[in-house]
Amino acid sequence: MNTPDISPATPFSPKGQTENTSGKTPSEPSVVISGTGQYLPSKVLTNSDLTKIVDTNEEWILTRTGISERRIAGPTETSGTMAAEAARMAIANSSLQVEDIDLVIVATITPDQPFPSTACHVQTALGMRPIAAFDVEAACSGFLYILDIATAMLRNGPYRHALIIGTEKLSAITDWQDRSTCILFGDGAGAAVLSRSSLHKKKTGILDTTLGADGANGHILQMPGGGCRVPATPDSVSSRQHFLKMNGREVFKLAVKVMEQASLDILARNHLQAEQIHSIIPHQANIRIIEMLASRLKIPMERFFINLDQYGNTSAASIPIALHEARENGFCPSGTNSILVGFGAGLTWGATLLRWP
Ligand code: ACO
Repeated sequence: MNTPDISPATPFSPKGQTENTSGKTPSEPSVVISGTGQYLPSKVLTNSDLTKIVDTNEEWILTRTGISERRIAGPTETSGTMAAEAARMAIANSSLQVEDIDLVIVATITPDQPFPSTACHVQTALGMRPIAAFDVEAACSGFLYILDIATAMLRNGPYRHALIIGTEKLSAITDWQDRSTCILFGDGAGAAVLSRSSLHKKKTGILDTTLGADGANGHILQMPGGGCRVPATPDSVSSRQHFLKMNGREVFKLAVKVMEQASLDILARNHLQAEQIHSIIPHQANIRIIEMLASRLKIPMERFFINLDQYGNTSAASIPIALHEARENGFCPSGTNSILVGFGAGLTWGATLLRWP
């Protein structure tokens, strides 16, 4: 892939909340995806394996979720080490060098430690210059949040190339005694290099993003312990407060609703119809959520990229892993439009519209 044509930094005009103006301001540079990468641990945990851990069966997991297997990180693999591997692949894929990267942002709910940030660990692992590096926590929507943050920072300058990574070691916060959640999650990392480009006249690259959150519904998907509200104590550990807790039915209903609304919003404010979207790359939580979304948007399932059967739900890593595989598998031809859409704990959600160069 060629290095994008870099234009000088121009002042950033904040987007309106109701209408995208990015295509109407020719002085505003585009931001394009110049490279993608992924890392999946080698250990595979199948549905059959799970029947030996909790009271479940292969058919229930497959029919209720669409998941056949997931990857589980080894003891020395962390969100940081997996992020670094995905980042190396994304930088190589962009034909850039590590020294070209001006900014690192990581999205994760399973950081290597509360601080320093996982982004700082990645910076060290890759031997990067002393560039800005920080983490963002928006659960499964995290990659869409950092994509919007990085896009704004690139448009505003002086940054030219940003490395954004979604990475998770969810197996570390999964309650392996809870059959309603442990069947869903997997580990992995996905990365993208975003670059400021002078391709604005073709209206190419990241065209628009909508983000949202509903903190009042935070309790339906949370990890109670580990923060300052419930610090680690013998009691918090024995009462299993350091594991993910979820009301699956409630999350399911809200997930469909917010992803549908985010997709409709991004279409409406960019004056597009659903049939003008060539591909949708959704958060990979449950095939039934995606099927319901497809039905409500009246977009055939063939246009949705799916890999949750192999990896399960990898939270913030889910969309960038799918993005990488979609791009590698010819799912995103030049000149076509894609929507990335997701939801997660918070609750949070988002949708990004992009056009492939
Ligand atoms: N094996 C067998 N039976 C099970 C299992 C299991 N692993 N888990 C639950 N069941 C049983 C339940 O006990 C229940 O039995 P009952 O009817 O006798 O009470 C029955 O199956 C139905 O349970 P539900 O919870 O109603 O099952 P549902 O069809 O809702 O599927 C699921 C559960 C898969 C969790 C679904 O609700 C879902 O996908 N929700 C959304 C999850 C999600 O997307 N989370 C995002 C998290 S990402 C993040 O931000 C970290």
